[in-house]
Amino acid sequence: MEAGSRFAQRHGRLINIFHYGGVYLQDLLIRGGNSLKGQVKISGSKNAILPIMAACLLSDGEIILNGVPDLEDIKVMSEVLEILGAVIKRQDDVLVINCSSVDACEVPEYISRKMRASNLVMGALLSRFGRARVAYPGGCAIGSRPMDLHLKGFINLGYEVADEYGYMSGLKKNAAGKEIMLDFPSVGATENIIMASALIPGTTIIRNAAREPEIIDLQNFLNRMGAKIRGAGLDCIRVEGVDRLGGVEHTVIPDRIEAGTFMAAAAITRGDVYLENVIHEHIQPTIAKLRETGAEIILNGSGIRIIGNKKIRATDVKTMPYPGFPTDMQPQFMALLSVARGTSVIVETIFENRFMHVPELRRMGAEIKIEGRVAIIKGKSHLEGAVVEATDLRAGAALILAGLYAEGETRLGHLEHVERGYENIHLKLKNLGADLGFHP
Ligand code: UD1
Repeated sequence: MEAGSRFAQRHGRLINIFHYGGVYLQDLLIRGGNSLKGQVKISGSKNAILPIMAACLLSDGEIILNGVPDLEDIKVMSEVLEILGAVIKRQDDVLVINCSSVDACEVPEYISRKMRASNLVMGALLSRFGRARVAYPGGCAIGSRPMDLHLKGFINLGYEVADEYGYMSGLKKNAAGKEIMLDFPSVGATENIIMASALIPGTTIIRNAAREPEIIDLQNFLNRMGAKIRGAGLDCIRVEGVDRLGGVEHTVIPDRIEAGTFMAAAAITRGDVYLENVIHEHIQPTIAKLRETGAEIILNGSGIRIIGNKKIRATDVKTMPYPGFPTDMQPQFMALLSVARGTSVIVETIFENRFMHVPELRRMGAEIKIEGRVAIIKGKSHLEGAVVEATDLRAGAALILAGLYAEGETRLGHLEHVERGYENIHLKLKNLGADLGFHP
């Protein structure tokens, strides 16, 4: 046995050992046909923890975060904070962050490129230290993802903002609370503007704010540190600036997209899976659509049971800002509807290029036509295992789901995308009875 494999077995995380310089050396092998059965615990939300970690920069106290998943994106955000001078310790799923010694305000290009969410430190740096210089995150596979709404928000608050040689920079000068109308309810812009308003004088009102549950978690976290924010979860958020934010202990909300992905996995494999650690309200759009496809769903306290139906029904899906159907569940639904009875239509309204998984699903036999932002999916009862590639995080998840259904073996490359956002997905699926391995 190679040293790497021995290490991996000891640590129970086979998936990580193939990680080398950001590129996986081995592909995931999925032998389809098994129904998933059993219980799985949903991890803390990646998209909640990333802005919360950025918000730690606003505090000079010690912050304890519970329920933090072990994910690549969280390692990158830790690296960003450490570059700025933060001290971070991790034990199991607890992260202790101290930003009292932060003395730098620049995020270099090499780290910004690794993860778009690194831009979330800009609002916090401006608010607490009065200056920030953050390399543009750049586009990604699913779209160009500009930063204009973030920067317009900072400018409205009175920050001096400049765009120079691939960097966004800002100075506090006379920043003070103002009324901001977002052109689109951007999740990141809403979070960044909340953070940029937390430590400046006056009241900021953000209209047409994003309403995602992760924004409520950010508000709760900040308020426990001493901030005065209300309205998160609605489209109008009010932030009254305060002088200082202190330490706090906070438990992050469960990951609604990981939950949705396991629900879709149960549905596509006609399985029977119980998910622990979910907030039903956060996954309502996914529950409603899964019921339309015929899955039986039973809610129970902080758990949920999904029983797949032998006959998966076609349905139509349109991605929308929360509380609409999440764009982060669109690829997984595309996989599910590829094996439904009848024709389904998916409209992607959030990202302009989020159909990268379609050519890969076609390799497995799916019949999908794309017209701009619309996908027409003619359900087929048969998919065949194939060699496919994850082009981004959720595309990778969709291909795993298709592989779990398909006849024969699917070989999925570029697992590094999947590891960015799913904690131990390989082991969690294996525990539910999936037949998974790695390409030798
Ligand atoms: C967050 C999530 C991501 C999810 C997305 C939409 C995190 C870390 N990531 O990303 O998983 O897919 O919400 O639910 O929470 N836009 C602009 N200008 C801007 C900002 C955004 O045009 O300044 C556009 C984007 O290009 C995109 C749309 O707005 O087309 C939505 O983006 P946004 O809500 O900002 O997503 P993120 O915060 O990047």
